[in-house]
Amino acid sequence: MKITKSSLLLAFILFSQASLASDGGTESEGKALYNTHCSSCHGNTGGMDMNKRVAPPIIAVRMHYIGSYPDKDAFVLAIAQWVEKQDASQSLMRGAIRRFNIMPPISIAQSDAEKIAAYIFEGDVERPDGFDKHFNERHGAN
Ligand code: HEC
Repeated sequence: MKITKSSLLLAFILFSQASLASDGGTESEGKALYNTHCSSCHGNTGGMDMNKRVAPPIIAVRMHYIGSYPDKDAFVLAIAQWVEKQDASQSLMRGAIRRFNIMPPISIAQSDAEKIAAYIFEGDVERPDGFDKHFNERHGAN
């Protein structure tokens, strides 16, 4: 095939679309894995009524972990380690353990747990109605 300007342009467009698709792919993979393995307990069911919930909302988990692990790699490691082994001495949410009991073991590959943790770190996660109000009241807005 003769290399023309337009075939180079086409190759460039195809290449940039492929790399866009793979970036989006990693993020949506973490989200899909979260939906499969975590959302049943950490999702919006029960809203902010802790008597109707089985676990804290994932946005609350994120806030506690970001506070101690603002760096993405450290955040991902801490969450993935928790998913691998629920060690109460490493807990950042002892009140949640008292209220809900400790999280049961989840059978999931460590690499998948890391993808989920990276997705949670990015912050575009489930957030029950009324979460901000509740968080500000309990933990202080300022
Ligand atoms: C069967 C219900 C259930 C599922 C499924 C579940 N969790 Fe949990 N999780 C809990 C409960 C209950 C708590 C609060 C008590 C605790 O901290 O152990 C919790 C707490 C946590 C905490 C805070 C731990 C701490 O105390 O510092 C993290 C992090 C977490 N979950 C991540 C996840 C991730 C990621 C997934 C999906 C891979 C997941 N959980 C799936 C029930 C669940």
